[in-house]
Amino acid sequence: MTAGPAAGDEYLASFSEPVGYLNFGSYGPPSRPVVETITRLATQAGEGVPSSGLHAEDERALAAVARLTGFDRSAVALTSSTSLGLLQIAFGVPQGRVLVSTAEFPSNLYAWWRAEEAGRLTVQPLPAQGSGFGGSGLAGPGLASEAHPLDPVTPDRVAAALELFPDTVAVAVSAVDFRTGYRADLVGLRAVVGDRLLIVDGIQGFGVIEADWTAADALVVGGQKWLRAGWGTGFVALSSRALARLRPVVSGWTGVEGVTRYDGVPHELLPGAQRLSITNGSPFASGALATALEQVESVGISTIEGLIENTVSTFVNRLEVGGHRVLSPRSAHERAGIVVLGRPAGDAAAVHARLDSAGITATLHGDDRIRFSVHATTTPAAIDAVMTVLGETA
Ligand SMILES: Cc1ncc(COP(=O)(O)O)c(C=O)c1O
Repeated sequence: MTAGPAAGDEYLASFSEPVGYLNFGSYGPPSRPVVETITRLATQAGEGVPSSGLHAEDERALAAVARLTGFDRSAVALTSSTSLGLLQIAFGVPQGRVLVSTAEFPSNLYAWWRAEEAGRLTVQPLPAQGSGFGGSGLAGPGLASEAHPLDPVTPDRVAAALELFPDTVAVAVSAVDFRTGYRADLVGLRAVVGDRLLIVDGIQGFGVIEADWTAADALVVGGQKWLRAGWGTGFVALSSRALARLRPVVSGWTGVEGVTRYDGVPHELLPGAQRLSITNGSPFASGALATALEQVESVGISTIEGLIENTVSTFVNRLEVGGHRVLSPRSAHERAGIVVLGRPAGDAAAVHARLDSAGITATLHGDDRIRFSVHATTTPAAIDAVMTVLGETA
């Protein structure tokens, strides 16, 4: 969907984070309309408005999720976090081997590890493959057992692993890697995964990159980062393949027929993704997510993506011209809003502290990397401020 400049301006003007806020990969400060929605709903709850009225927000959020993901309305459900959504998926996949890179964010590891502990599956760490990362040459050629955390999860790497482990039932991956900023080729992964389940943690990209999200069998997205919907918001979207195969063992009384028939026996599961429902969610979260998603729709993902890519490309160029090491991808189609600066080992904390003193919010990773994340609202002044600090410390 595209929109005129007026809609974009209204979207941009609805946010009020400080200029130096470059930490959307951690959390994205919500817009004024999102804050107002939460306040309005909380006020109504305080006034004793019937809960049925407040829960109408769920439908508004689900409808927007369906429009933006491309999944049917019946195939989407709300969740309170990426971690919870992933746990529900992990406990539901058919018995077998699940392929996942140990460089994934811990939410996408503990879900699988816990399901393994419960005897439901076997976790298969994704082996390394020597395609190198973003031209950094960190990985060597061939298929090795020890993966480097900066290696991207590519279709080739997954295909090679599936040759080794043909009994794999599911592959789990992040759409955009939290550490490297690498944007996965979801369509390419879909092709090599075949009829197995492709589970996608979309939190670092959904809402800010154009992607064929329906390539995933399960898409799990928390709304507190790039969607700028605040904590406690999120959704799960399921393909018909996933709906047919996933057992909703982590679900509850609102995931079944006849919710108000309190008869002491288990009821039939609801059709569609709603069967994953555990209990009534927070209307404040649903309203916040609905408002944030409608804001994204009002401006269009391609507009947001374009604004981010402009700033990221300027930022990366300036870093490279300044002789700094950029560890995130160089090409636009392999990245989203994350820019990773490499520093000599042991030096990153001091640089991070100087950035902080200059009013720049970024994430320190280990002792040699700083992760910046750029949104549509990021201005050239933020990049100037980073370059000034780096100039002082280079
Ligand atoms: C890729 C990824 N997945 C999951 C999470 C955690 O999400 P949540 O707090 O919604 O469980 C993060 C947070 O940094 C993340 O980067």
